[in-house]
Amino acid sequence: MASLSFQEDRLELFPTLVFRRLHEGVEGVNARLRELCLAEVAAGEGLVRSNVGGFHGAPDLLSRQDPALTVLQSMLEAAVLDYVAEVAEAPSEDLQLELKLEAWINVQTAGAYARPHAHPGSHLASVYYVDPGEEASGTAGSAATAGRLDVLDPRGRMNQLPIPGVPELDNVSFRPKAGLLLLFPAWLQHMTHPYAGQTPRVSIACNVNVVRFARKLRRS
Ligand SMILES: [Fe+2]
Repeated sequence: MASLSFQEDRLELFPTLVFRRLHEGVEGVNARLRELCLAEVAAGEGLVRSNVGGFHGAPDLLSRQDPALTVLQSMLEAAVLDYVAEVAEAPSEDLQLELKLEAWINVQTAGAYARPHAHPGSHLASVYYVDPGEEASGTAGSAATAGRLDVLDPRGRMNQLPIPGVPELDNVSFRPKAGLLLLFPAWLQHMTHPYAGQTPRVSIACNVNVVRFARKLRRS
């Protein structure tokens, strides 16, 4: 058989960038954030959004004054800067961003979960885990996924006809961990499996808008 001659590019189209950033040495910050979150639960009624059960706070968390919230805001800003730099293919230090951050608390008790949803009207969405709560005992069925956050494959009907023998990526599951920050496009659908622990599972969600994007002028 005659050899085939061709030119070809291999294109990775429609990639979805997700940051999974685990902060270290933040036990003190998390302890204070947990205290703030549980105090808000004790004081208020919370909102109903994508959450089923649990407590969804008002999205003004970062307008309050507390050193732990200042640290949280720094974490978010640093992650967003690195994320945007990655997407813009520019060094983080060359960028100047003005951000609008709207954060709120989520405190889940046993049985609470979040339906599949996205965050329309924002550029990026983030969740920071203050306290993952208790791991479910056992590894079978719902115990294996309890309290986890799944991001859902955005490629439409990808799984209608899988190639035999080729495992297809479907949903991707993240296990909450204290100090873990996830950051992803706000359009990416995600959900939380029902939590099964007895102690509260505490996380802080955030909507991110890049209000202004500029590249710093370099002096030559
Ligand atoms: Fe969400």
